[in-house]
Amino acid sequence: MSLSINLTVNGVPRRIELEDPRVTLLDLLRERLDLHGTKKGCDRGQCGACTVILDGQRVNSCLALAISHDGATLRTVEGLAQGDALHPVQAAFIEHDAFQCGFCTPGQIMSAVGLIEEGEAGDDPERVREGMSGNLCRCAAYKGITEAVLDAQARMAAAGREEAA
Ligand code: FES
Ligand code: FES
Repeated sequence: MSLSINLTVNGVPRRIELEDPRVTLLDLLRERLDLHGTKKGCDRGQCGACTVILDGQRVNSCLALAISHDGATLRTVEGLAQGDALHPVQAAFIEHDAFQCGFCTPGQIMSAVGLIEEGEAGDDPERVREGMSGNLCRCAAYKGITEAVLDAQARMAAAGREEAA
């Protein structure tokens, strides 16, 4: 059986033939679209390594069936940088040493981007920790991650105010 879906992935419209209706967005990204930045940790919704932004919402792509999201817009870590210019969240992760092995990092970064865009990051570390609690880090780089999210949120808010002025 072959089914086709349309997705916009990092701004690029894609028409994709699915050979199996059970394929997840995570496997579709990694195995069909060669977008390997999104990681497969647990493959059961427990670690957040596979976090992407789907129609503006953070989701665990290992739990999302591709067939259920025909017409959706998807953002992955590969779509954040603009040429050589890193997204503020990516830059903040580097500046705050917010990773060790890096396996969880794409998911952490996508979750942080989603949290900030939802307007839920604020300037309270506890609130950021709560908002990022679905993203586990086996290297326990949580201190740097929280600092990076707070820093990126402050920078993005300041940039937004400058743009509005
Ligand atoms: S791989 Fe999706 S939550 Fe762990
Ligand atoms: S940096 Fe290693 S799992 Fe998070």
